[in-house]
Amino acid sequence: MSYQSTTDYDVVGVGFGPSNLALAIALDDCARQRRLTCRSLFVERQPSFKWHGGMLLPGSNMQISFLKDLVSLRDPTSPFTFVNYLHKSGRLLDFTNCKTFYPSRIEFNDYLRWVAGQFSAMVEYGETVVAVEPVGAGQSVTALRVVTRTEEGTETSRSARNLVVAVGGVPHVPAVFQPIARDRRVVHTSGYLDSPVVGAMHGRALRVAIIGGGQSAAEVTLDLGERHPDVRIDLVFRGHALKPSDSSPFVNEIFNPDYTDYFHSREESQRRAIIRSFRNTNYAVVDPELLDQLYRMAYQQRIAGAQRLALHPRSEVVGTEAGPEGVSLEILNKDEDVRHRATYDAVVLATGYERSPIPAFLDPISRYIETSALERDYRLQTSPGFRPQVHLQGCSEISHGLSDTLLSVLPMRAHEITASLLSGTGRQRGPEQDMAARILVEAAAGRE
Ligand SMILES: Cc1cc2nc3c(=O)[nH]c(=O)nc-3n(C[C@H](O)[C@H](O)[C@H](O)COP(=O)(O)OP(=O)(O)OC[C@H]3O[C@@H](n4cnc5c(N)ncnc54)[C@H](O)[C@@H]3O)c2cc1C
Ligand SMILES: NC(=O)c1ccc[n+]([C@@H]2O[C@H](COP(=O)([O-])OP(=O)(O)OC[C@H]3O[C@@H](n4cnc5c(N)ncnc54)[C@H](OP(=O)(O)O)[C@@H]3O)[C@@H](O)[C@H]2O)c1
Repeated sequence: MSYQSTTDYDVVGVGFGPSNLALAIALDDCARQRRLTCRSLFVERQPSFKWHGGMLLPGSNMQISFLKDLVSLRDPTSPFTFVNYLHKSGRLLDFTNCKTFYPSRIEFNDYLRWVAGQFSAMVEYGETVVAVEPVGAGQSVTALRVVTRTEEGTETSRSARNLVVAVGGVPHVPAVFQPIARDRRVVHTSGYLDSPVVGAMHGRALRVAIIGGGQSAAEVTLDLGERHPDVRIDLVFRGHALKPSDSSPFVNEIFNPDYTDYFHSREESQRRAIIRSFRNTNYAVVDPELLDQLYRMAYQQRIAGAQRLALHPRSEVVGTEAGPEGVSLEILNKDEDVRHRATYDAVVLATGYERSPIPAFLDPISRYIETSALERDYRLQTSPGFRPQVHLQGCSEISHGLSDTLLSVLPMRAHEITASLLSGTGRQRGPEQDMAARILVEAAAGRE
């Protein structure tokens, strides 16, 4: 079944997570200030708004100040601030009494959903973008055809003058787990809370392996230990110890929006060195408070003589097999070069996320893309004659820095992309190629 939409959009956003939510606010602000109507649409795969729903654990907190919400750093007077959300929810004073900059993830998800609700007229939920095709003749491309598919297989195509992609990461399943990845007993943390296997563990002395040593691994370990106290957990990770994330103030300045200018202007080798040097701000590290909680949990179990959490550092899974008796893992202890096999009732992969520099649904326009490196304004560099602007959010850590996949720079990034869409000024664009953005202004002005 397919359906052809006749509507022409000035901007289509792919994905409606925090990045494109921030963009919706920035476009709205800009349209109001300039008294324009920007016809924008966001297409979201999920049936309704949810921010990493599989990990909305009761004890999990934000890892960033609420002041770094969708808009405050750009415009603290905006109605879309976290503070205004608290005010409207009647919890401003109570939140203040909590004396924290780090709300629970459940509350922040509610804030994001509250903002998303105010843009519901311009979002199509339950549709996945499967292809973005060129519209035009020869080398001249004037618009994009954005093809989406629902779970039931209904296809819709819409015409867009500009595209902003913000699709986040996809769960990383290491090669050794690929043969058993479809087994229902193997769960990635992104689907942890939704997994029927996790739900069915209550009151049963099951054995669970959690793979990885980052924030997700630590959060799931604590949650599982508290949620299902009878479960025995093996935490298997390659590092020497679980390590704390560095969120100290001088280091944290790498997440300031103006650091992006510095970072983007460096040589690639320098940028890679910076990412290596600051990896412990974000990857394979755990919030120090959570580390203390985990340590205390293991210690209390020792006092009680019922050690149910076992840490396996310097260990790597080198073989997997799923059978009727459980999921069997071959684990290599890298210190002693010794292998052992253990069988589990469930395996949780806390092995992080992957991000491709250019998502596969852009393949139909790949011949117009000159390089995967993005301009400073997050725009794909395309060949002359390709008029639409395509911006990518969250795909350019290597060119824009470690803040690219996080919430740190969302308001400023959204502002920069909006400004770029409106000005159309680009390194390789002459007046003729500035069409895409001019159309945005003119089309909008024509509708006033
Ligand atoms: C559990 C967890 C907690 C985190 N906590 C923090 C934190 O506290 N602070 C911080 O700074 N960062 C945090 N992060 C990092 C996270 O990347 C950002 O918070 C944020 O989610 C990035 O927003 P985004 O919109 O770019 O991506 P996402 O939030 O991943 O949103 C992308 C959206 O695109 C949709 N989508 C994907 N493909 C398609 C498609 N083809 N068609 C249509 N829709 C599609 C997805 O369904 C999703 O809703 C966390 C990450 C995780 C996994
Ligand atoms: N409350 C919160 O705000 C919250 C909660 C969860 C996650 N997050 C965020 O989400 C992002 C991702 O965190 P994450 O913990 O999911 O992922 P992550 O930090 O990327 O950690 C992934 C872990 O998996 C391991 N791993 C990867 N490939 C492996 C393989 N082939 N074999 C064995 N181990 C492998 C890594 O080990 P190596 O180091 O050895 O490669 C690492 O320990 C971070 O930004 C984090 O801050 C935030």
